[in-house]
Amino acid sequence: MIASPTVDMNASRAESFRIQLIRSPLFRGLPPAALEEIVKMAQPRTRAMGTLLVSQGEGGDALFVIAAGRAKVVLFGESGREVTLSTLSAGDFVGEMAMLSSVPRSANVIALEPLTVLAFGRELFEPMLRRHPQIAINLLQVMVERLRRADETIASLALQDVEARLTRTLERLAEEGGERTDSGVYLPRRPTQQELANMVGSCRETISRTFSSMVRRGLLVQRGRGVVLTRELLARRAA
Ligand code: CMP
Repeated sequence: MIASPTVDMNASRAESFRIQLIRSPLFRGLPPAALEEIVKMAQPRTRAMGTLLVSQGEGGDALFVIAAGRAKVVLFGESGREVTLSTLSAGDFVGEMAMLSSVPRSANVIALEPLTVLAFGRELFEPMLRRHPQIAINLLQVMVERLRRADETIASLALQDVEARLTRTLERLAEEGGERTDSGVYLPRRPTQQELANMVGSCRETISRTFSSMVRRGLLVQRGRGVVLTRELLARRAA
């Protein structure tokens, strides 16, 4: 029998969602039958670049797994200044805090690129946790890692200067998407100075000054739209 184009398209879409769910740390270690069941429950949603997936302060009863695109988790200060808590890509999840604790959303989640997410409402997610306790273990592991990072950020804001914080942020980005080269680690897509300021907890002018000083001292090398974290810079942390 020849399948209709619609059926084909739906089947290939479901297959691509299944692949993303398998890659998600949230569903690690689940048997294939459980993943099939979970894919069927997921509600796909899309967001255009620059738009909100989650709004701080609103009620929320769904968790989202990113199927395609990138997003950032941000807080806005009264003056409009922005702090980036995290950036997320395919396989990562958000929205678990309001969903699990019935309190308002703790932060904004904004699409950095065209975004497709798979939504799981509370009424589906809670029974799913009971049926597959492995999901609860996976969820705890990711939340522990987020707490560890948050602790690290609190300590660095209190104890480190901007250069050390900028270095740590660039190293983190390099761990996630850097390429090893002879001269160090190349980060092909360097965030703008404003974005770096939002991640580091500083302002654009200070980041610009610090960045230029590190380039002058040979700790960073600009290459096209990217930057190389030199061996010398990386060795400073290891020392
Ligand atoms: P929720 O509070 O429902 O909505 C905002 C979401 O941002 C939150 O759930 C988490 O999924 C996510 N979030 C909040 N703080 C952090 C953080 N420090 N690191 C990563 N994600 C976070």
